[in-house]
Amino acid sequence: MTRILAIETSCDETAAAVVADGTQVLSSVVSSQVDLHARFGGVVPEIASRAHVDLLTPVVAEALLHASMDGQDLDAVAATVGPGLIGSLLVGVSAAKAFALVWDIPFVGVNHLEAHLYAALIEEPDLELELPLAVLLVSGGHTMLVSMEGHGRYRLLGQTIDDAAGEAFDKVARVLGLGYPGGPEIDRVATAGDPRAVAFPRGLKDEAFDFSFSGLKTSVITYLRKHPEADIVDVAASFQEAVVDVLVTKTRRAADAIGAKGICLAGGVAANSALRERMLDACIADDRRAFLPSRSMCTDNAAMVGAAAWWRLQSDGPSPLDLGADPNLRLPLLA
Ligand code: KG4
Ligand code: ZN
Repeated sequence: MTRILAIETSCDETAAAVVADGTQVLSSVVSSQVDLHARFGGVVPEIASRAHVDLLTPVVAEALLHASMDGQDLDAVAATVGPGLIGSLLVGVSAAKAFALVWDIPFVGVNHLEAHLYAALIEEPDLELELPLAVLLVSGGHTMLVSMEGHGRYRLLGQTIDDAAGEAFDKVARVLGLGYPGGPEIDRVATAGDPRAVAFPRGLKDEAFDFSFSGLKTSVITYLRKHPEADIVDVAASFQEAVVDVLVTKTRRAADAIGAKGICLAGGVAANSALRERMLDACIADDRRAFLPSRSMCTDNAAMVGAAAWWRLQSDGPSPLDLGADPNLRLPLLA
């Protein structure tokens, strides 16, 4: 059995987990910094990296304690090396390398986007039987449609040409006077609203697989200016409907195009109730398997980093200790 201590500090969650053989989560601890950033309405990079420095040691200690292990029981240490905020990434990467040296075990650098993708596949030992998969990766910084043809084998089908889906949720939540982060707030209030109240535009409707969300955000602002009396709850529900509609339509289209056996949701926006429900309905209608991470696995956590690390360790071996953090790291794609 290969036991990996995984560390995630790419943005504003300080997280550590112990994962065995890429499939068994022995512990997973996430310390959110949301309260520190909420009054600024977004993540402040300098505050985030300082908070990671304070929180990382206790979070790692707790993850080891929950897994009833200490350093001698581990086979490797993994950390997210990018993409993310450089100051935040460096805290986790430096700590992981130090642990690897002290315990004399390999270090594995993990791509945060690949980690999100593995969140839904963590309990799937026979993944090969389900390939190819159409993956919709929707987070605060990314919106991508990917064909997964094997472990580490990805083909990009489409992506956003402007805002990421999570970014659109956060920006519109701010316009609606809802809290931060905006995605969960819109999700919460939208349950009481009418999704058909306002017919917001569907971005790049005629483009096969690419997305655009900045026009939708502008439409919400324009609508609120023209209708100051509008019920925020209905506007939130209608905005969410417009996002979910394009995400589901294009993912289904992509799944048809590649002959996918299943659809996999990944990233923070995959926690959205309406998106999960509609994607599940579409999979049932099309007789496809739906890979939905549990809600806590959608947003940033280290268990997904531990799962991705195990597959990378099998395919590429340990990472060199001079591997640096890369804030702009991309998902490795097939030519
Ligand atoms: O994956 P993630 O935790 O961090 C990044 O790697 O970006 O994603 C965070 C994003 C934020 O934009 C947040 O508003 C959004 O995911 N999000 C949601 C929900 N929960 C988190 N968006 C819609 N509905 C949700 N329930
Ligand atoms: Zn993330």
